[in-house]
Amino acid sequence: MNKFRRITGEIYVAPDKSISHRAIMIAAIAEGISRIKNFLYADDCISTIKCFQKLGVEVVDEKNEIIVKGKGPNLANPLDVLDAVNSGTTARLLSGILAGQNFSSKIIGDESLSKRPMKRIIEPLEKMGAKIRARENNFLPIEITGGKLKPINYNSKITSAQVKSCVLLAGLYADGVTKFSEPHKSRDHTERMLENFGAQIESNKNTMTIKGIAKLKASDILVPGDISSAAFFVVAATIIKNSKLRIKNVGVNPTRTGIIDIMSRMGAKIFFENEKTINNEPIADIIVESSQLKSTIIKGSDIPRLIDEIPVIAVAATQSEGETLIMEAKELRVKETDRLKAVASELKKMGADIEELEDGLIICGPTKLKGAKVESRNDHRMAMSLTIASLVADGKTTLKNPECVNISFPLFYETLKKITK
Ligand code: S3P
Repeated sequence: MNKFRRITGEIYVAPDKSISHRAIMIAAIAEGISRIKNFLYADDCISTIKCFQKLGVEVVDEKNEIIVKGKGPNLANPLDVLDAVNSGTTARLLSGILAGQNFSSKIIGDESLSKRPMKRIIEPLEKMGAKIRARENNFLPIEITGGKLKPINYNSKITSAQVKSCVLLAGLYADGVTKFSEPHKSRDHTERMLENFGAQIESNKNTMTIKGIAKLKASDILVPGDISSAAFFVVAATIIKNSKLRIKNVGVNPTRTGIIDIMSRMGAKIFFENEKTINNEPIADIIVESSQLKSTIIKGSDIPRLIDEIPVIAVAATQSEGETLIMEAKELRVKETDRLKAVASELKKMGADIEELEDGLIICGPTKLKGAKVESRNDHRMAMSLTIASLVADGKTTLKNPECVNISFPLFYETLKKITK
């Protein structure tokens, strides 16, 4: 990672990962042909495409568009296991759809995904009538025998869009109204997209209802830029002096803009321009200028709105004046890696004043970081966060396994190169 002095220019970031997954899945079970523009061609979403192809769905890449020939609610019995590889969203949302099918199927994943908890989706799906077998009742491989489902009223103890989406997708196959509530509101892309595809779905704060048995109708989708990918550049342009950056066409759904609110609260200069709504999703250009940050406290309903951005917020906090406290973020321990442990130990190697809490982090700043040998732990968001940290560090930083950015943002390093002057 070479030295440079500031960040300027205009960029696009990777298309939204959450919306890309949902676009394939929902188009697959709709009737008719859906066209997806600006789809995220990254490893996680390719895993979703491959699973649905095995389920008999024709997915064709044509002139920068993905064309999904929807099979309607009933998919084909796959001849092979379905491999979600590294993708929690694939495994958990797909499970909801498989629960409504007339066959048994098995989902597997890589080493990281096989350590991530599945009980959170097994429990509601079993209540709906699906038969499920999983390793230690909690981990992949998971075998789902689907069938006719019954609607449930489910109060989730955790806030998770993956769990919510799994239940809502299963709800399409249950005769009656399925209700789901969660402690705080998680990202609502599934609800917005299902509505576009004709589902009868309603949201009231943290409670959602969906009416089954539903038939979905194909719809075209334009995927906006991913705010979780933009976050790395929002932080970089803020903490690197004399920077000014425009990030174009980013999804700014209020369930995802925690990074903007928190960074603004910390003193960042961030503005939106060219705001519009496409496919029920708000989009804007994000303009960021450098500024001196001050510390803050991040907890409660903030957490789901910036869950994937905490590693890079920790980097921002090392450059902020005072003590930043992140709490009630235990979910970070069950992401692609234990992100609380990973962030604390890797940033410590770079000289950060950071302490790992059971459910969060305490970071004191500002600290002059120093280059070090750091490890991504094969976690895409760790790799990108550590790269941003290296930009404000003295000396050379060497990152192990940098290529794991392919999970969500294959052009990350090229994009960064374009704006470092
Ligand atoms: C996602 C939801 C979040 C997030 C993940 C993507 C989604 O996970 O961390 O990267 O697309 O629904 P949880 O639902 O487990 O919090």
